[in-house]
Amino acid sequence: MTHKPVILVTRKLPKAVEARLVRDYAPILNPDDKLYSAEELIDLSSTADAILPCHTEKMTAALIEKLPANIKAIANFSVGVDHCDLEAAKSKGIIVTNTPDVLSDATAEIAMLLMLGAARRASEGERMVRASQWHDWSPGFMVGRQVTGKRFGVIGMGRVGQVSAKRARCFDMDIHYYNRSRLRNELEAGATYHETVESLLPHCDVLSIHCPATPETTGLLNAARIALLPEGAIVVNTARGGVVNDEALIEALKSGKVWAAGLDVFNGEPEDIHPEYRTLDNVFLLPHIGSATQDTRDAMGYRALDNLDAIFAGKEPGDRVA
Ligand code: DGY
Repeated sequence: MTHKPVILVTRKLPKAVEARLVRDYAPILNPDDKLYSAEELIDLSSTADAILPCHTEKMTAALIEKLPANIKAIANFSVGVDHCDLEAAKSKGIIVTNTPDVLSDATAEIAMLLMLGAARRASEGERMVRASQWHDWSPGFMVGRQVTGKRFGVIGMGRVGQVSAKRARCFDMDIHYYNRSRLRNELEAGATYHETVESLLPHCDVLSIHCPATPETTGLLNAARIALLPEGAIVVNTARGGVVNDEALIEALKSGKVWAAGLDVFNGEPEDIHPEYRTLDNVFLLPHIGSATQDTRDAMGYRALDNLDAIFAGKEPGDRVA
């Protein structure tokens, strides 16, 4: 019998995904879903042929440098790979993959939830009802912003950006976008392309961030760029916290320049997010759950396993990023 590759699985995965892992590999599972330290990850890698991590594992250059030579691949259970130093992996000859496409619908749903939650003061209203603070109703009570017919601006018109734009069209929103390259006509579907972020921003009644976190996009939404938004814009972020300069966004939320924000991702998440976000009424906050549906979790796992299957069959994996 041939040796089944050993896969270090860093977090507890959906049942069906773990069943496939057990069938096809010799996985080192994590039934308690413990968050491993860098040292533990290195120790656990000593007998593994590949690692299947999530974005919660910081696969830094220092960690990758210390991985044993038996590690051939890092098959991420995520589309974002900002937690993983691709250059360090490349220089060690480790193949890195991600899980694109399969989480676009789920993440676009959360972008819509954040947009509506921020626009219609959902978090404020919900807290009021729960705290028995709802005492009256009048025409001026809890008045929010209507998004129907307004402009929906996208930074990063990849797969999630495109699905979000499609969903926003259901609210008769006019789509504007910035992307490194202009989309083909049929993908653009009538959206207006802007060659720079600066030229996009004045057209965003709602700005939805969908670009990956890279050194180039770190702090991209800063004070100078926020100043280019229309007065009272709404900011939505389902990508990565690093794309936003928190101080600048908080200042704009306090001044009313940004009317409200819907955020699913944060610098310093989960525990060290900017404390002022917790105190502002005009932010709708979620704990990085863009892709958290059962369908999508299963699909992410299968996609990571498809990549491993290809790698251990000596083929090029579909989602190679390094
Ligand atoms: C992703 O896939 O990048 C999601 O943010 C979960 O990690």
